[in-house]
Amino acid sequence: MKKYLILVLLLIFSLPNFAKDGYELWLDYRPIENSIMRSEADRLFSGIFFFGKNPTYEAIQKELQLAAPKMTGKAPIFSTERLNQTQVWLGTREELAQVFGLQDQVTIRNLGEDGYWMGPVVFQGKTYFTIVGNRPVGVLYGFFDWLKSLQSGSFDSNKVKMESPKIQLRILNHWDNLDRTVERGYAGFSIWDWHRLPGYIDPRYIDYARANASIGINAVSLTNVNANARILTTDFMKKAKVLADIFRPYGIKVFLTARFSAPIEIGGLKTADPLDPEVIAFWKKKTDEMYQHIPDFGGYLVKANSEGQPGPHEYQRTHAEGANMLADALAPHGGVVIWRAFVYSHEIDEDRHKQANLEFVPLDGKFRENVIIQVKNGAIDFQPREPFHPLFGAVKQTNLGVEFQITQEYLGQATQLVYLSPMWEEVLRSKTFRPTPNSTVAGIVDGSDSGQKLTLMAGVSNIGTDRNWTGHLFGQANWYAFGRLAWDPYLNSEQIAEEWTKLTFGQNPENLTKIKGIMLDSHEAAVTYMTPLGLHHIMGWDHHYGPGPWVTGGRADWTALYYHRADSLGIGFDRTFTGSKALEQYAPEIIQAWSDSEQIPEKYLLWFHHLPWDYTMKSGKTLWEEIGLHYDQGVKSARKMKSTWESLNGAIDPEQFSHVSQLLGIQVQEAEWWRNACLLYFQSISKRPFPSEIEQPEGDLEYYKSLRFPTAPGIRPRW
Ligand code: GCU
Repeated sequence: MKKYLILVLLLIFSLPNFAKDGYELWLDYRPIENSIMRSEADRLFSGIFFFGKNPTYEAIQKELQLAAPKMTGKAPIFSTERLNQTQVWLGTREELAQVFGLQDQVTIRNLGEDGYWMGPVVFQGKTYFTIVGNRPVGVLYGFFDWLKSLQSGSFDSNKVKMESPKIQLRILNHWDNLDRTVERGYAGFSIWDWHRLPGYIDPRYIDYARANASIGINAVSLTNVNANARILTTDFMKKAKVLADIFRPYGIKVFLTARFSAPIEIGGLKTADPLDPEVIAFWKKKTDEMYQHIPDFGGYLVKANSEGQPGPHEYQRTHAEGANMLADALAPHGGVVIWRAFVYSHEIDEDRHKQANLEFVPLDGKFRENVIIQVKNGAIDFQPREPFHPLFGAVKQTNLGVEFQITQEYLGQATQLVYLSPMWEEVLRSKTFRPTPNSTVAGIVDGSDSGQKLTLMAGVSNIGTDRNWTGHLFGQANWYAFGRLAWDPYLNSEQIAEEWTKLTFGQNPENLTKIKGIMLDSHEAAVTYMTPLGLHHIMGWDHHYGPGPWVTGGRADWTALYYHRADSLGIGFDRTFTGSKALEQYAPEIIQAWSDSEQIPEKYLLWFHHLPWDYTMKSGKTLWEEIGLHYDQGVKSARKMKSTWESLNGAIDPEQFSHVSQLLGIQVQEAEWWRNACLLYFQSISKRPFPSEIEQPEGDLEYYKSLRFPTAPGIRPRW
């Protein structure tokens, strides 16, 4: 019997890992290729000792039971004694108190709640590879890092490594509705099966927690920011409790979105005025009840007075009064209010770009300590490229977190390969010049420049019920990159791409170079065929799929014309002193450079300037010609991505290959569609010929305008 088992194991182990459907994500453990590394892993996995007992260590054990056989062909052995056969020690600083000297204890303590230390520890003449955290979750993070280094061939048992996250709250925001539709979701339905909760536990919940923990994500908001008050009813609390219990060993806290009008909708009150005693009592009671179900509940995420959502303005109260009322209900339990700065109103006749600062800057210093304002990376709305949001650096006594969109609403949804890390990196590294001359967005968000105690990075999830979780296999890279940047906002995109690629496609250096190359070029390519030179918000109406530079009608700031302002004279949104003055909201250094059309980086040109079609660009060509050249270049880049991918045929798993190859085919067509539709539309206004050196746009503008996509994903079905 034992013989057969060994045979079967050997067989599984010797088979190439093919037919990969993407479910395993970056935790798709595979045989360690390097033989020295493999025997090292083999040795270490043969004697694992935990210095304590708790659900997090059990999660580590389960992970090892899964990983070790796949990596080395053998099951791990857990020691019952810390000496003798033991090779690896895992525990908290306190559990390992006798092992570390005072100096080391201090070093480890300084790594904070989620940090970890790993390296060799010599004890009574024998060396133990040791992973220590201040809390079990730190051990878990170290453990995942260790597995990753073994898997990707970089592990060195003699080296000491210390890590601690730079940002406290590393949170995924799901825009999932209770009926399982997902706002701006392109990967199927919501993974939260509310109807069958609390009775049925989908195994996906555990795999979701494993994946997040492995990249350091420690919080999740389960529900759409366009919230439904029902989530705060007792029935739903019981359901959310089940998820919270599953996530807890993985160090993940649950947040829920709070609909500001909940006191009326589920509380039977006539008002939701944040200063009304009954409303205050309602939230206090609700919150107390929540903590009975979920003792480590994270808090509320709130979208108020934005895009039709209820909020304190209905009662002539400020955002601060609204947020503080909820903060007071949460404070006794250690909870946090995440209040979004994505606010704009169509009643106010102001450039939408300016509205968040207009509302929040006067409230600086008025928010409670347990409130953090979650600010999108740019002032409009997750466009393919945006200059950083001017709220970063504009307030001094308000906690600010950054919100990125992992789901690719404006960046090709789930048909396009667009690696978003370079875009996030660009924002994080942007110099704000405030509060200090060297401040960056990252420095404000992680508190090093701003001095804020509470820190947060949020990512709008791209996860759904699709077998591979994210619709497009490369959507996984964006989830992964978000987690890594939330842990350390100074990491670079190439390094992250390399890590993810190795874990997803293996170690082959040639494959690695190609795949990384595609990833690193992809964001610039998408910007170039969608919205080059600072153009923005010119996508299809409502579902936001494909180009729609002609979109008009309804509220002005939801149209394309509002943003590109193309007319017979030129194109672009004048946000300088002669226009909307939105530029005024930035630091003087930026105002000075960007108000000059010659000095502003050309990637932001039409974001801030309305310029004549014949304006001379840095290249010596006219603006009109450069627009044409950019769209054309974007298409060429997409084609290059596709042809590079095709050269991987036979070199990687066939299922992975075919999935991406087909989608890249769609991406090239969509890039051509963007180019054709936008250039034909802008030409109908500029009345100029296309530059001769570009591939002439095909088709007829009326045809592109007539396209309809009533079943496009990401918005609630209306058919
Ligand atoms: C975008 C998106 C909406 C979403 C909103 C938000 O505008 O299209 O679906 O609700 O962002 O961030 O609240």
